[in-house]
Amino acid sequence: MRILDLIAKKRDGGEHTDEELRFLVEDYTRGDIPDYQMSAWLMAVVWRGLTGSETFALTGAMAGSGDTLDLSSLPGTPVDKHSTGGVGDKTTLAVVPILASAGVPVAKMSGRGLGHTGGTLDKLESVPGVRVNLTGAEVLAQVHQIGACLCAQTTRLVPADRKLYALRDATATVESLPLIAASIMSKKLACGAPAIVLDVKFGGGAFMKTVEDARALADLMTRIGRAHGRRVAAVLSAMDAPLGRAVGNALEVQEVIGLLQDPAEADGRLSALVRHLSAVAFLLSGRVGTLEEGAALADAQVASGAATQKWREIVEAQGGQPDRTLPTAPAQVSVSAAADGYITGIDAEAIGLAAMRLGAGRATQEDKIDPAAGIIFHKSVGDAVGVGETLATLYADTESRTRAVTQAVVAAFQFAAQPSPRQSPIYDTLGLDS
Ligand code: URA
Repeated sequence: MRILDLIAKKRDGGEHTDEELRFLVEDYTRGDIPDYQMSAWLMAVVWRGLTGSETFALTGAMAGSGDTLDLSSLPGTPVDKHSTGGVGDKTTLAVVPILASAGVPVAKMSGRGLGHTGGTLDKLESVPGVRVNLTGAEVLAQVHQIGACLCAQTTRLVPADRKLYALRDATATVESLPLIAASIMSKKLACGAPAIVLDVKFGGGAFMKTVEDARALADLMTRIGRAHGRRVAAVLSAMDAPLGRAVGNALEVQEVIGLLQDPAEADGRLSALVRHLSAVAFLLSGRVGTLEEGAALADAQVASGAATQKWREIVEAQGGQPDRTLPTAPAQVSVSAAADGYITGIDAEAIGLAAMRLGAGRATQEDKIDPAAGIIFHKSVGDAVGVGETLATLYADTESRTRAVTQAVVAAFQFAAQPSPRQSPIYDTLGLDS
């Protein structure tokens, strides 16, 4: 088989066999196909697309390109969760302890933030002492012992995606639905869970800007998972405004701890999404028979304190100290409303970029983040505000850093004379009927 022939085949709209896709992935991962030829093939895919069966085979070949986790020794049905990313999305930190506290094992491997979006690992690392780089053996041992872990993907998992994603980034070939779906699902397949809950976000702060694009991605990822024998459901959720009241690593961890301790006081959109994702996961795992039972179980795990206890166990198992104070920022500056009105929107992408400039995120992979930096909202979409009322507090290492983004944060708020209805963040759930 020759790579040149495969490039030409895809250029001309042909359909690859499973064997051809395995050859492409294996030889590229080994370094036997050069970047310039793989780039040409990727661009041909961007233009010509991949059929369903090509996408399933590509994903399988990528998933098998390195180590895979074998979770078969765990009790029950382990569940994995994936979010396509957003601003203020800390749901994983709440959902994992809720599931594990009810006996559903979760070996959760997460990523870091880049640009306007945050990453679960960065949030978790703001807890003093927490270690996120676990070996495959440590992951298994911890999930056996306490039912869950929250850690980084090891470098030996899906090396094909690591290489391909970097190449796509440098060759304007990220924007291809089958390539995105294969990239995400190859990592989920390699993590070994038989049941997977996907949170596919849409809106200004999300990777997918429209609900139609999010639905298409969710549908394809669900079909890939099923083709590989996994139970998969996908929640479509809004990422037009930041999720919850906090954006920034330690601030978001504090918000999760508060939500698990007293959900009635938590942001309503955040707690609704945490509850729904947990319910879907409980249903997929077979722990409950209906979504309503799943939601009730999630409520019970929080109300009894079991989810908080599980959070503490996860932190301790990974070397952290759950009672230590989280890092706090020396500079804290409030921004206020210039006029009376109702908040009708908060631009998630603008807030994510402002939080990044405060130090909470990275402009490039190499940037260091400030765990204490970020933004707390005192008002949310739908609230009435009077002139001079505090909208948000900005946290950073210096006051000048907060001043540099004040205007951007104020401009991210949209106001009107009339209130707009409060929207649920949950738009739809796919895959529960199978
Ligand atoms: N996230 C991924 O993991 N892969 C993509 O291709 C896009 C987003």
